[in-house]
Amino acid sequence: MSAGLVVVTGVAGFLGSHLAEALVARGHDVVGVDCFTDYYDPAIKRANVAGLLAGPRFKLVELDLAAADLSGLPDRPRHVYHLAAQAGVRASWGTEFASYAHHNVLATQRVLERWRDSGVERVVVASSSSVYGDAERMPTVETDRPRPYSPYGVTKLASEHLALLYARNFGLPAVAMRYFTVYGPRQRPDMGFHRFVTALLAGGAVTLYGDGEQTRDFTFVADAVAANLAAAEKGVPGTAYNVGGGSRVSVNDVLARLSRLTERELRLDRRPPQPGDPRDTGADIGLAGRDLGWRPQVTLDEGLARQVAWHRGAA
Ligand code: UGA
Repeated sequence: MSAGLVVVTGVAGFLGSHLAEALVARGHDVVGVDCFTDYYDPAIKRANVAGLLAGPRFKLVELDLAAADLSGLPDRPRHVYHLAAQAGVRASWGTEFASYAHHNVLATQRVLERWRDSGVERVVVASSSSVYGDAERMPTVETDRPRPYSPYGVTKLASEHLALLYARNFGLPAVAMRYFTVYGPRQRPDMGFHRFVTALLAGGAVTLYGDGEQTRDFTFVADAVAANLAAAEKGVPGTAYNVGGGSRVSVNDVLARLSRLTERELRLDRRPPQPGDPRDTGADIGLAGRDLGWRPQVTLDEGLARQVAWHRGAA
């Protein structure tokens, strides 16, 4: 018996691949969509879906949601999880912006049109803490004014607005998940923890942007997956939810913990703060608790240990 056919876009990415595995484990049939861009080595994305492809409940469709004919995708999935995006805050300047507009804005609009009248029970759209930019206050509440600080954040906010306006205009049951810096096994190679652990294990210097006192509400990937699953069942259509790890920690603090965990001395290659990087992020997760019954379960120390184990090839 199937728990229902669902679509996961961006399935070969960090979060998408974990989500698809959780869905298959819960008895769903999953159609995964990805276009394997080369923002980072597509071989990593192939490896992310290798386990899924070995099972009978998963099908991979390779296409670009912003450009391809989408009529071959399932007409009446139970849920759509739209995680496909051009990620990365610091790379979204200059000529790269075209890729962000393409994959984050145009693709989302086409996904929403594709399933607008399909009777889908939920469309869960991946948004980002970067919609807040230099936020009004910490922790930030969903109703606080979004004020992106990077071109990436602008495209994620546009994507989220599209989802929520389809909910208001057409009753499409869409919800948006504002993830706060997700980490864990398979984290993208351009992200902080991945770069930190790789450098430490190789005995090299860690690149640190700014003074390291910037803070993030780092969120373990299994907690982000659990928030998605809960949102597909219980999310209030037309709502954006913060998905944060539960505490705000500085990059210096993380580096000290990683140095202890890897038993390597921390050597720093100090660089200036990067354009587009907000100083702080912090999630008020009360709304997700009330509507979704969701709370993060994995502490930073446990999550870091799991990511380090993955880098060591033990996970
Ligand atoms: C992350 C993701 O990359 C975005 O796709 C996502 O939308 C965003 O989280 C979010 O929460 O909305 P970011 O917070 O920049 O963006 O995540 P990291 O790349 O892990 O950076 C975390 C912190 O470490 C930043 O302050 C960054 O400046 C710093 N960092 C990163 C370094 O000091 N050195 C590095 O080599 C990399």
